[in-house]
Amino acid sequence: MSVPRPAAIIVLAAGEGTRMKSRTPKVLHELCGRTMVDHVLSAARVLDPGRLIVVIGHERERMRTHLSSTSPDAQAVIQHEQKGTGHAVRTVLEAVGPLVQPAGGVGIGRTVLVTYGDTPLLTAETLAALIRVHETDGNAVTVLTAEVPDPTGYGRIIRDGAGAVLEIVEEKDATPAQRAIREMNSGVYAFDGALLADGVKRVSANNAQGEEYLTDVLSILRGDGHRVGACVADDYVEVEGVNDRVQLAFARGVLNSRLLEQHMRAGVTVVDPASTWVDVSVTLEPDVVIHPGTQLHGRTSVATGAEVGPATTLTDTEVGSGAVVRNTVAERAVIGPDASVGPYTYLRPGTVLGRKAKAGAYVEMKNAQVGEGSKVPHLTYVGDATIGVGANIGASAIFVNYDGVEKHHTTVGDHAFVGCDTMLVAPVTIGDGAFTAAGSTITGDVPPGAMAVARGRQRNIEGWVTRRRAGTASAEAARKAQADQVEEH
Ligand code: UD1
Ligand code: CA
Repeated sequence: MSVPRPAAIIVLAAGEGTRMKSRTPKVLHELCGRTMVDHVLSAARVLDPGRLIVVIGHERERMRTHLSSTSPDAQAVIQHEQKGTGHAVRTVLEAVGPLVQPAGGVGIGRTVLVTYGDTPLLTAETLAALIRVHETDGNAVTVLTAEVPDPTGYGRIIRDGAGAVLEIVEEKDATPAQRAIREMNSGVYAFDGALLADGVKRVSANNAQGEEYLTDVLSILRGDGHRVGACVADDYVEVEGVNDRVQLAFARGVLNSRLLEQHMRAGVTVVDPASTWVDVSVTLEPDVVIHPGTQLHGRTSVATGAEVGPATTLTDTEVGSGAVVRNTVAERAVIGPDASVGPYTYLRPGTVLGRKAKAGAYVEMKNAQVGEGSKVPHLTYVGDATIGVGANIGASAIFVNYDGVEKHHTTVGDHAFVGCDTMLVAPVTIGDGAFTAAGSTITGDVPPGAMAVARGRQRNIEGWVTRRRAGTASAEAARKAQADQVEEH
């Protein structure tokens, strides 16, 4: 993608986006783990512009705070009133001065790109293609256009008989014949920076919407005798903006399909792309298998040979090679190589499963380190714990970590055996190789190798049911069993 570095990329994002019907500014809505405006900025960044500028207005404080955390390299310029796309660019030039320096930075050209914060599908490749056409043809301005099935709402590209671009007419200002044109203005342009600065000052608001249209700069520069041109996008879907939540869902689907396609081409098996969702920041190694109904969010990574899903949601979770993770919800967890998780398992932040460890059905873990080969196979809560290697935690054991005020830690040693239904009341330590008897409530430390029994001794009250539950089915069953016993003797 070698094109000269643009002097600046200006992203217009001051509008409210009323059709989203949201308290969140439109461009801060998220798809595939990134907001709309951050998708645009990350495509822009690939071109390494001299300056990256975002025009903000609506909810400017929230926008500014967001941008300073996700995109500190972008400069926010405030447009106090949204008086049109031309006004937005004029506001930038008034705020930051000339974008094209006589002696620009290393390798920086004269081109200024203008794009919108609500086109998350636009790729760096398409922006580069626009710059290439613009600079090769020596244009003053080149507009990115597309043939769309339904151009309603868009500005139309007016060309002469020879195909040369004459002007852009907004739908509200267009004649019926012009409205029939299906080549639309994407709103993305490459400008000669100096000519843009001159042209944008001369735009009037004398139109149906009373706005300063950036589109008018094109006819102004053409009127001055400069070359204007168009670059037709290969795929119109890329340039479609998101205006409401129906379009947001559509864009998310397109982006997700793109990401899955990249992963599949890199060697990942995605069994059912239609029900698999991944964020942009997810990494998957070759020979990973993703089963249906899986969502991978944030910085989740899955190493080679691991299988994830079905019906699994992982957020910021690391899955080691060869691990199997089924029907699981995990957040900020580390699942070691060849570990086994699920089905129906909930791993909360701070869970670290060692190599070949197991967290089985109906197990919940939080802030718990589980050593190599240790097994927590069924119905258990493990909170605030360190479990050594080769330990076995019986079904239904509970790590009682909370006393109502504070959380306490439990340590279980190497090769320890915690019996079924043991309550480990923290803080407590089970030594290496120690056992606990099923049903015990352990409140004190167990030395290495000891068996801890902490439960009432069993006593049987003979004949209790016959006396105290006379006439019930239980009493009748007991009577029969006793009669059979007598017969046998
Ligand atoms: C604009 C174009 C139209 C094109 C369409 C593509 C103009 C006059 N028209 O129309 O030809 O087909 O985009 O989507 O440019 N914005 C600001 N400040 C403003 C006005 C707008 O930052 O004062 C931002 C908005 O947040 C939005 C973008 O610019 O992201 C486009 O503005 P919008 O009002 O939606 O323009 P359209 O009417 O869609
Ligand atoms: Ca729009």
